[in-house]
Amino acid sequence: MEPSRDRISPLFSEARLQARIKELGAELTRDYAGKDLVVVGLLNGVYPFFADLTRAMELDFDVSFMQAASYGGGTESTGEVIIHKDMDTSIRGRHCLVVEDIVDTGLTLNKIRHLLQDREPASLRIVALLNKPKRRRVEVTVDYVGFVIEDHFVVGYGLDLSGKFRNLPFVGIYDPEHA
Ligand code: PRP
Repeated sequence: MEPSRDRISPLFSEARLQARIKELGAELTRDYAGKDLVVVGLLNGVYPFFADLTRAMELDFDVSFMQAASYGGGTESTGEVIIHKDMDTSIRGRHCLVVEDIVDTGLTLNKIRHLLQDREPASLRIVALLNKPKRRRVEVTVDYVGFVIEDHFVVGYGLDLSGKFRNLPFVGIYDPEHA
């Protein structure tokens, strides 16, 4: 069945997302003041959150992107994490902040964390808009969290179902009966 907007019920409105992102941006601005920082976005899902969060950080820093994927296009993780694109910026001796849209099983972040830790950054922290701890399969520390959510399949604001709905300005729950 084709993904349909009719099956999405709102969870976090655009206004609520933006208000929380402003708070996170202020916190990060305080925590990284005076530090040599590289902010790394994990594509594809992170793109709206990355753009809004980095603009809420009143600091100067480098940005870079990686692309990892664990989902085979449906609603369940395949358990395998593939790095499709590596970042093009050195983080050795620099502070590194990884930006993620959602932490679900934790498999993606676990792989990224180990990969980046081996490059010897001065520090490595993670900020995620959404954290779904009930689905965790591996232990990962998420240093900054926008919202903790229940085990719903969420779409919008970067999150997709079969590639669709990333462009919605809000986060909604997709009816799993029809996912
Ligand atoms: C999603 C999401 C996270 C990851 C979280 O990415 O953006 O990167 O899954 O799930 P996990 O904690 O179970 O690993 P996805 O692989 O769907 O790629 P996308 O960002 O291109 O949508």
